[in-house]
Formats: sequence, C-alpha cells, structure tokens
Amino acid sequence: MCGIVGYVGGREATEFLVQGLRRLEYRGYDSAGVATIAPPRGIQVTKSTGRIEHLDRLLAATPSPGSIGIGHTRWATHGPATDENAHPHYGGEGAVAVAHNGVIENYQSLKDRLIAEGYRFRSQTDTEVVAHLIDSQLKRLDPAADIAAVDYQPLFRAVQLALRQLQGTYGLAILFRDYPTVLVAARLGSPLIVGVGQGEHYVASDASPLVGQTDRIVRIMDNEVALMTADKLRVVHRDQGPVRHLVSVLDADSGGAELGGFAHYMLKEIFEQPEAIRNAMRGRLDMDAATTRFGGLNLSPQQLRQAKRLILTGCGTSWHAGLVGKYQIEALARVPVEVEYASELRYSNPPLAGNSLLFAITQSGETADTLAALREIKRKGYPTMAICNVVGSTIAQEADGGIYLHAGPEIGVASTKAFTSQCTVLAMLAIYFGRLHHLGYDAGLRAVEELQELPGKVGRALETGEAVKRIAEKYAQANNFLYLGRQFNFPAALEGALKLKEISYVHAEGYPAAEMKHGPIALVDENTPSVFLIARDSVYDKVMANVQEIKARGGPVIAVVCEGDRRIRSVADDVIEVPATADFLQPIVSIVPLQFLAYYIALARGCDVDKPRNLAKSVTVE
Ligand code: F6R
Repeated sequence: MCGIVGYVGGREATEFLVQGLRRLEYRGYDSAGVATIAPPRGIQVTKSTGRIEHLDRLLAATPSPGSIGIGHTRWATHGPATDENAHPHYGGEGAVAVAHNGVIENYQSLKDRLIAEGYRFRSQTDTEVVAHLIDSQLKRLDPAADIAAVDYQPLFRAVQLALRQLQGTYGLAILFRDYPTVLVAARLGSPLIVGVGQGEHYVASDASPLVGQTDRIVRIMDNEVALMTADKLRVVHRDQGPVRHLVSVLDADSGGAELGGFAHYMLKEIFEQPEAIRNAMRGRLDMDAATTRFGGLNLSPQQLRQAKRLILTGCGTSWHAGLVGKYQIEALARVPVEVEYASELRYSNPPLAGNSLLFAITQSGETADTLAALREIKRKGYPTMAICNVVGSTIAQEADGGIYLHAGPEIGVASTKAFTSQCTVLAMLAIYFGRLHHLGYDAGLRAVEELQELPGKVGRALETGEAVKRIAEKYAQANNFLYLGRQFNFPAALEGALKLKEISYVHAEGYPAAEMKHGPIALVDENTPSVFLIARDSVYDKVMANVQEIKARGGPVIAVVCEGDRRIRSVADDVIEVPATADFLQPIVSIVPLQFLAYYIALARGCDVDKPRNLAKSVTVE
C-alpha cells in the first residue's frame, strides 16, 4: 500500500527519496512521485504512473535539485492511477506539497468548502484536500512574522488547525515553499517513523528505507506532528502541547532484505521458512515441563487459565493462520476458539463471554482492519494479544501483550514465511493452553518433540520445488483450480488457493474436501485441476473418497501426500510427497508445495511475482 519518504539535510534529497521508494516498492503501488525545494525556485513536483524506474528516468531527464524533499508511492483509493492523482500534491498555488497515506473520510465536504473559497483541484484524490487545507491555514499567518525565530510555532499551529478538520486516517509528509528548510510529518492511524542522522532527518512509513542511513529512530504516534530541520526535531501533539520524543534503536531485523541470488523475494522467503520457524520457536520450548513458554504475554498462567474462549482475528493469510490455530488449540487444549475476519469483527459487536481473550494475528502489525478490531475489543475491556512479525508496529504496541514471529522482513507481497511462522506460534500456544488444561506430560512432550523436528521437515518439503515446477508447467494454462483438504488441512487449502489467485490471477477456490459436493463440484471438468491435501490422519479414507468423486467426473487431481503413500498413486494424476508430522503441524509442511505451485504457475504465465497487480503488502486502509 502507499509509502512515504522524506528527507532534510545536506545531501541531494532525491538520492535518498528514490532509493527509499524502491525499498517501499514491495508494499504495492501504481504511481510514484517526489517533491523537492531548491530556493528560490519553489517546490518542484515530479510524478507519474508506473514503476519507480520510470520516475527515475524522469528525474534523470529533468533533475529535481534540493536538500529537502518528500516522496510517495501511491496505491489508488480515491481516483484511478493517473499522473494527476499521483502524490505529492500541491496546496494553493504551490505553497505546499503533501504526500499522504490513509483515507480522508470527510474529503467531499472539505472539498466543497475549499472550492467555494476559490481553490482549484487538479486531481480526484482526497489528499489534495489536505494540501489546500494546510495552505488555507498558512494564509492566515502574519506575513511580517519571523516564523523561524519563534521555533516555527505559528507553522505548527497552522498544520494543527488543518489536521483537526480531517476525519479518517493519515500519515503525512509536508513541504512549505516559504519555509524551505522545514519538513513536517503527521500521523493518525497510518505509521510514520523519523530517522535521526548527523545533520539530517528522514521520514518513512516503515523502517526499510532507513536501513543503512541511520539506526536512530523516533516513532511518531497517533495525533503527533513532527517538525524537522536538518539538525532539529520537535514533536507536538495535535491538540495538546509539545511531546518528549523517545529516540530508539532501529531493530536489526527491520529491513534491508536483499534478494541474495534468488529470482524473487517470494522464492527467497519460501526457502527461509525452516529458519523462520526455528526463530519462532527459539527459547520458547520447555522440554522439562513438556510445554512452551512466552515472554511477552504479560498475563500469569493463572490469568491465562481463566480464558474460556479465544478469539483469533486477522485478514487474508493471517486469518487462514487463525483458522489453523483454531484446529490446533481446540484439539490440544479443548479451549473453544472463534476465528473472525478483522474487517467484520470491528463492526459486528459480537456477544463475547466475560473471560474471552483476543489474539490479533498480523505480519505487518499495521493492517487497518486488524488494528480497528483490536482497539474495539480492547475498548470493551477484554485483554488483547498480538501475534506479529514487525517489531514496534502499531498493533504490537497497542496490544496488552504478544508474541513476535521473528521471521525477518517479509517483502514478497504473497505471504509465505509469515504464514508458517504464525501457524508455528499458534501450535506453541495450543501446547501451552493444552498443558494449562488437559494435556498430560507425555502428550505435551511428544508435541514439543514434533515441533523440534518441524524445521527439518519443512526443509525436506522444500526439495519438492523442481517436481512442483514441472506440475505447474503442465497445468499453467488452466483457468480454474479447486483446493481441497479436511480438518487441519482445510485452512491450508484456503491458503494455497489464495496464493494462486494473488500472484497468477487464476481463479481458485479453497474448500473443505467433502463440502465440495454441495456446489463447487459443478465446476469439475477435464480443465479444472483439484489440488488435494491428504495427510495420514483420521480423515485419510474420507479424503480419498473425495478424490474418487473428482476423478469420476473427469477432473485432474494433484495430490500433496505424506511420504510413502502408495494408495494415492493409482488415483491421482500428479503426486507430491512431503514428510509426515503430527496432525496439528501437517499444514505447515504441506503448504510448502502449494507455495511453489502458485509461484511456478505465476512464472509460467508471465506474471510479476513480487509485484502482483492491485495488491498491497500492508493494507492500511479500511
Ligand atoms: C496474502 C497476504 C494478505 C495478508 C493480509 C494481512 O498473501 O499477504 O492476505 O495476509 O493483508 O496482512 P497482515 O498479516 O500484515 O495483517
């Protein structure tokens, strides 16, 4: 989703801006732009639809000099992807330039008012409203006043007054033609980080552009406005006074991920899964007590024992992980679990039992719906936990406690290692809650031992890559796929289908294998492959019967099975073998070939795997 960068210091701003925007490419975007100031020329905006390379070429042809600037990658919300709608946007007749992440909900009424005041709009965006609004407040400043001499307080005040009129969410970076040494950043619901350098300051919507520039950061919080010059940073609350900002050290994990010889981030991250899973488990397995342990839940075993219902929430892949977690926790701990789409939970006002405990599952920690669901449940007085990858992200900070994945940066838009790490953490939670309740020592120990073997088994599942590639090439032209599994493997079927949809734009449906008879079976024909996830579990024979139902209707079957399964060979068209593990961990192993399948089908269809159309890595709008 949209990305912001900003710079003020002694260097040419565009050097950092363009490099920073490249680091934000993974978030998904459809246009990009920069604005710089080189007095006396005023603010120069360069922007266009398409990739950063295109912007870079424009800047090579017509440089945008200046040691202060802002940049943006846009993922269209209000108005299509056009050059005019790309950010930054001018306010007034060039007195201001604004880059914005988020959505201004009351933009139409503000726009009507600004038009009545004489403002001329060049774009269809909600952002241009912010730019004009700031300009209209600046016009009220005393032209004779020396703003710098009073610590830019009148400027702060003008921005504060403009921001107070906005409803919705924003992360903003703002330039002022008449104050060409000042960069302002403001946040409400859309993350912003300030990087503190030697005689320079940076702004970015996530940490990745800052890696290699500085490791000293200030996280701007909701309702805060930061004003920076090359060597000074001041932060004020939008409605209150100055805020003492805390300089912290950028987490070493935060970004800078390089391809390291892989063709795509997605492929690299698929291969990182054994290590990511190991990191998720590191220091959390307690062999002596045959259980798992977590440092950051901030609740005692006595309090956790009181939780009679767990609510797992998230979006997309994280929601799928939640569904795996439901099967795991209910099987091992016998604690009832509800899995809610965060986008529904935030508005559905469900009746929750008094002793419910919420887990918000999120890779980025910034997903707008997940954050809103967490806030809503927290507001009602329930304890909230985050299962999150990005350290220091908004959800990680706002939850009462939580568990970090430690999977390292996930750059590929299609989530892979975050999913398997989330499922691993949920498996550990299942053991933990199990041991608080009915799970005996021996069963607990067996479960922990199975966990220990998991990275090795996922590593062996990675060996299926070449075989899956051949299968992918065989079916690459199919336009519909079914993904089928039962019990623990049903959510993995959903996740496999989502991967294919996301990066190859092929229609795929995930279903519980038996439920397929109640409708989707109508889709089955010789051109519609069905991908089955078959474990050596209690429903093995039942799933085999479902395979026969598909074959009887002429549908090709690709089966992901456990090593040594001979029976499937006479029925399925293509068989992929993965190591068997405990039922509650099997989806973490079996998903690997489905990630490969999506990857290689996307390649065969000529799709841009790491930058799939329309998608954003971190969905920070509702
Ligand atoms: C799919 C994918 C998305 C995310 C979803 C939630 O591959 O990446 O479906 O899982 O947008 O994102 P997070 O986990 O960052 O909250």
